[in-house]
Amino acid sequence: MYFYEGKELVVSDKELKDNALKVNYEFNEKHTPSFEIVGDKLLVKVNHGMSEEHYITAIVYKYENGYDVVRLNANDEPNWEFEYKGNGEIFEHCNLHGIFAIKM
Ligand SMILES: [Fe+2]
Repeated sequence: MYFYEGKELVVSDKELKDNALKVNYEFNEKHTPSFEIVGDKLLVKVNHGMSEEHYITAIVYKYENGYDVVRLNANDEPNWEFEYKGNGEIFEHCNLHGIFAIKM
């Protein structure tokens, strides 16, 4: 799995394993993604403000056979509607606080 920050590919599986950027699974009100499965859609929300200095750069939906990456800008809402492809994990990256994830 890869994670994008801005327009650059910054984290690979190996880097995650090596803890170059730790994935935080502990619940955090402002960072842990929440999700809802509605029919064939997966609705993901992050309860985080968005400003040029501090924002959610990406949301990643990882499922059994792959992953979908959505990159966000500071003026976007930190929400996304994915096509539901089975349970997996949802990750988000905050430019100041790192990666937070939840297992579905
Ligand atoms: Fe943050």
